[in-house]
Amino acid sequence: MRVSVIGLGKLGLCTAVCIASKGHTVIGVDNNESIITSLKNRNCPIRENGLRKLLDKSIDNMSFTLDFNEAILDTDVTLIIVPTPSGANGAFLNDCVTSALKAIAPALAQKKDFHVIDVVSTVMPGSAQKEFIPLLEDATNKKCGVDFGFVYNPEFIALGSVIRDFLNPDLVLIGASDEKSGETVKNLYESFVESMPEFAIMTPVNAEIAKLALNCYVTMKITYANELARLCEAIEGADVDVVTSALGADTRIGKRCLKGGLGFAGPCFPRDNTAFQKLAADAGVELFLPAQVVKANDFLVDYLFNIATRRVAKGATLALLGFAYKPGTHITECSQSLMLMERFLEAGYRVSAHDPTAEIKIEPRYTHSVTIYTDPMKAVTSAAATLLLVPWPIYCTMDWKAVWKELTHTIYFFDCWRIVKNVAHDKVKYWAFGG
Ligand SMILES: NC(=O)c1ccc[n+]([C@@H]2O[C@H](COP(=O)([O-])OP(=O)(O)OC[C@H]3O[C@@H](n4cnc5c(N)ncnc54)[C@H](O)[C@@H]3O)[C@@H](O)[C@H]2O)c1
Repeated sequence: MRVSVIGLGKLGLCTAVCIASKGHTVIGVDNNESIITSLKNRNCPIRENGLRKLLDKSIDNMSFTLDFNEAILDTDVTLIIVPTPSGANGAFLNDCVTSALKAIAPALAQKKDFHVIDVVSTVMPGSAQKEFIPLLEDATNKKCGVDFGFVYNPEFIALGSVIRDFLNPDLVLIGASDEKSGETVKNLYESFVESMPEFAIMTPVNAEIAKLALNCYVTMKITYANELARLCEAIEGADVDVVTSALGADTRIGKRCLKGGLGFAGPCFPRDNTAFQKLAADAGVELFLPAQVVKANDFLVDYLFNIATRRVAKGATLALLGFAYKPGTHITECSQSLMLMERFLEAGYRVSAHDPTAEIKIEPRYTHSVTIYTDPMKAVTSAAATLLLVPWPIYCTMDWKAVWKELTHTIYFFDCWRIVKNVAHDKVKYWAFGG
């Protein structure tokens, strides 16, 4: 199949490369000239695990252009994967999607063959029917479902494992304007997936709701485990990992996303609950769960701040380990570690910071109070207390006994993921969240 991908960012470039890697011809389009130039020069403008290697392998099946016409005329399906940032009221903004649709409309108007427009970006339910399809029909003077097809086909990937997730989905969600368009996108996926996904083909509005509902459900599950961690924390002898492993064994619940610890973050999850509430409010429905999930998630920052500051005196140095919003990625968007760092700095603490890959951004007014370490052992031994905030493999495999040996003073060690465990050292006052 000949596929064009509009928007070559964190998700779009991985998608384009994965599809090309399975033998399809892919034309990548972006309105950012530097991205196109970089790719034409065989450079990889996005950091994502495995992307560089797969791009090198697939690049002969790919071309890159700023020209939307060429991309539409020379392909059968166009995937639109442009940003949909959250507006002030919590709804996703469609401006980049509509701008891309306007840019492709002239070529779509003159195209003789049936062409499928597949919007992948996360959008507010109702966008396809109320905004995207009318826009395309007006601009092309063609009928959707007859002269061209429209599909809403969001992805369920996590940064750090985009390629694996894209090629191995559990679910392929296809909200199609008509049967032919739905089948076209299904055939495309069947040609490259390495898993046996469930294909859920439905109307665009149901797919739009399902995307948001699924993400919000996952955040609710994560939050449930985190709430259990707080509960176990308060009960003598309780261990959240023992409790969640029993819950996860029940197939109605399942094991994934059920590890009590710090809250969810990143570019997608935090804004999905807000958008879900906005969707419900606009529909005149009061939903109780999304607001509580956001509240419980935000509360974890306060909770940990209080745990640490009740024990460690103001002015002391706190080592914070892990700033990426989760292991495996350098992205720090909405990271609770960044929020905690800011709270500690505001309260008069100093910070020794470490992350294996993330760039730790510090406000200019606090630069004198933060030291960034490349060696986590040095961050820990320089501080009065350590907060292990992200379960990066490097922290899981570290020789902690060797770290304790280097200590010249007694420290607190707040282990949010129960990684170090069984610490028996007179210089370490150990606290495990939920354990
Ligand atoms: N990143 C994720 O983890 C993830 C997961 C699931 C869904 N999504 C959704 O996918 C969409 C894209 O996210 P992303 O993280 O890849 O964004 P991104 O910011 O990394 O990349 C977007 C790309 O689109 C380009 N672009 C913007 N407007 C354009 C236009 N009008 N025409 C052509 N190109 C344009 C930008 O230059 C950029 O290269 C969003 O709706 C997001 O919510 C992202």
